[in-house]
Amino acid sequence: MDRHNGNPKWEITQFNESFTERVTELANRSMSETYSPKVIEEIYRSWKAGFLLLMNGSDLSGFICGSKYSGTEARILLLAVEYSSRRLGLGSKLVDAFMNVCKSAGFLSVRLEVRTDNDSAIAFYRKHGFSITSTLIYYYSDLSDAYQMWRML
Ligand SMILES: CC(C)(COP(=O)(O)OP(=O)(O)OC[C@H]1O[C@@H](n2cnc3c(N)ncnc32)[C@H](O)[C@@H]1OP(=O)(O)O)[C@@H](O)C(=O)NCCC(=O)NCCS
Repeated sequence: MDRHNGNPKWEITQFNESFTERVTELANRSMSETYSPKVIEEIYRSWKAGFLLLMNGSDLSGFICGSKYSGTEARILLLAVEYSSRRLGLGSKLVDAFMNVCKSAGFLSVRLEVRTDNDSAIAFYRKHGFSITSTLIYYYSDLSDAYQMWRML
């Protein structure tokens, strides 16, 4: 929130370790898998430029992080927007920024996995040009299935 006039003012910034706890909490509130602070920091260290935050002043409203899947392909690992801030275009802002990072890094395509019952995320990714390419059976720790989704950059 803009502290002076009360209007939200969201900005994309880079992750750093001072956000580990807050990102871990948001991930665990938003997704069915459980993530430890150690895992969040490992993802960050694997590709620092691909870990972005969406800030509203000093408040964390969302984040996205990814990895380098191959020489030409990047992967979205985690994406979440605070429940109270959804359907405002913020997830789109994060994905667009992530795609720009991928293009700058020379990747040609992006893939991701999403639970087959996560209708809102599947609709969201379709809107961003991703198509389902395969189903991964028993992919998650609770043995739920995943769709793999993919798009060219
Ligand atoms: C998926 C998620 C990041 C979307 O964030 P968001 O900020 O709400 O997304 P946007 O406002 O940018 O949505 C863009 C478009 O995606 C689609 N979409 C988003 N949420 C949707 C929903 N619940 N139902 C149907 N379509 C949806 C719509 O087409 C939407 O455009 P519209 O609002 O003009 O109709 C958010 O719902 C979330 O954090 N979910 C929990 C975590 C998760 O499932 N992450 C993805 C798996 S890793």
